[in-house]
Amino acid sequence: MAHLGHDVVGIDIDANKVEGLQRGELPILEHGLDELVAEGVDAGRLRFTTDGVAAVVDRQFIFLCVPTPQGADGAADLSYIQEAARTLGPHLASDSVVVNKSTVPVGSARVVAAELRRDDVSVVSNPEFLREGSAVADFLNPDRVVIGSDDRAAAMATAELYSSLNAPIMITDPASAETIKYASNAFLATKLSFINAVAAVCEAVGADVADVVTGMGYDTRIGPEFLRPGPGWGGSCFPKDTQAMVRIAADAGYDFGLLKGVVEVNDQQFDRVVDKIRRGAGGTLEGATVAIWGLTFKARTDDLRDSPAIEVASRLLAAGASVTAYDPTVEPGDESKAVPDGVRVVGDPLQASTDAAVLAVMTEWDQFRWVDLHRVAKAMTGDAVIDGRNLLNPTEVRAAGLSYDGIGRS
Ligand code: UGA
Repeated sequence: MAHLGHDVVGIDIDANKVEGLQRGELPILEHGLDELVAEGVDAGRLRFTTDGVAAVVDRQFIFLCVPTPQGADGAADLSYIQEAARTLGPHLASDSVVVNKSTVPVGSARVVAAELRRDDVSVVSNPEFLREGSAVADFLNPDRVVIGSDDRAAAMATAELYSSLNAPIMITDPASAETIKYASNAFLATKLSFINAVAAVCEAVGADVADVVTGMGYDTRIGPEFLRPGPGWGGSCFPKDTQAMVRIAADAGYDFGLLKGVVEVNDQQFDRVVDKIRRGAGGTLEGATVAIWGLTFKARTDDLRDSPAIEVASRLLAAGASVTAYDPTVEPGDESKAVPDGVRVVGDPLQASTDAAVLAVMTEWDQFRWVDLHRVAKAMTGDAVIDGRNLLNPTEVRAAGLSYDGIGRS
């Protein structure tokens, strides 16, 4: 927002985070974000504070960007957003606009308005569609900007904030805007479960999923995007948002069986990867040594939340395997990272594969393509490579004396 020319103050209750940002230290790995933050700070258009009450008094727009984690019953937990609205409500300027960026269930614009207790402040829903790892590029080149509000003037004013971007701006009602967010994530997760299921069929019938995706993708109604098979989808969004949408539908009287199936296929995918590793270990995981390359939920992020790699590692441990892992964003012994107890984290991929019966590639970090496979083969006690991301070249893996099993590759 500062890059677009707006005057921005970022508020957080976490003093460490704010102090770090004031020093130019980002709490997350996000390509290009440090430059953008530095640019905003240097230009005097961006600052950070923990004093939300003082910061909001002169603001025209207040973006709520707090987490909405999955509650115990699958529904989104709105307590953070409610708390923020309750705290800031009395201090907002007259005619200011509160913009909901957080992913919130249908009807939440009204929940926020109720917490604000302000007739002179409008609430707008403005869901975000950024991907971790390419969030800066996604923000600057969005496919669309969606704005939902019952207050046309507030919606138009919010739209104006994005007017320098080359993107369609859609204005709708709050319920539709909130549904667009969930439906988009649910649809993308559906594509992924679909292609992972097709990959299973490919393995059974001797087809190659890469060619299948290419052939399907030529059909412009399908397109080639977001159809890379993998070890299952994860991250801080799809798992919670698919569950939340199932719940939103159920609360509204619709049984979203299709989406439940999508979630179930994903859970089966973790098991399918575990089964491949079991086969690679000779039929049992009890006492098997497994090396895992990659722990984050995808490459180009340091985020381990709901990572398929972590899920698979946990299932391996539960089945009696010993697991050694390497990830470029996880330092050995870093307690702040949510690596399951029992997973030994080491400092390089070759070290991880040492004495392993099976090597499993779980995150598509580019550097894994360049590891010397002959050295890997020498270091391992077994010869099985399970490529959960179809990252490696099967011919090269086999040339190194290893066996290869990917996802949906004949
Ligand atoms: C996702 C959406 O893509 C964003 O549009 C949305 O804004 C965001 O959630 C959110 O709701 O905040 P993100 O969680 O960063 O973004 O991750 P994705 O790039 O969508 O990947 C999700 C999972 O699907 C990862 O585990 C990834 O490895 C997997 N994936 C993705 C595949 O297995 N194959 C693919 O072709 C694409």
